[in-house]
Amino acid sequence: MDHDADELIRRARASLGHAYAPYSRFPVAAAVCDEQGRVFTGVNVENVSYGLSMCAERVAIFAAIAAGARRVTAIAVTSGVAEVLSPCGACRQVIAEFAAGDTPVYCVAAAGERHRWTVSALLPSGFTASQLRSR
Ligand code: THU
Repeated sequence: MDHDADELIRRARASLGHAYAPYSRFPVAAAVCDEQGRVFTGVNVENVSYGLSMCAERVAIFAAIAAGARRVTAIAVTSGVAEVLSPCGACRQVIAEFAAGDTPVYCVAAAGERHRWTVSALLPSGFTASQLRSR
């Protein structure tokens, strides 16, 4: 399904105010497009027991899956800081579960500077279902 990068980025940025990040004070928001062209957003949701916190990318992907999506065709991530953010390792593995290697991941800084990654550039040589089946 085709996607509009600018619209996806706009949706992520519009969600940033919903981030719950009282401990890190590092709000993050993500928007994902599914195979039907639907857009789902997510924000980081922290917890006083720090390890229970969840990243924005996974919240957005899990919302999409819970609504029936099975594939992610584009992702946008933004934070409130000047630097372009780069998704954490755990999120890269979860993104790779639902997105093809050439899926774009747009990372956007607060002022609008953006970097376009692909899923395979973010997670080269990742663990895949085919390896699991070859046991
Ligand atoms: N965080 C995300 O939501 N996504 C990322 O890709 C990197 C980090 C969140 C987790 C935590 O709530 C805060 O940013 C600081 O690590």
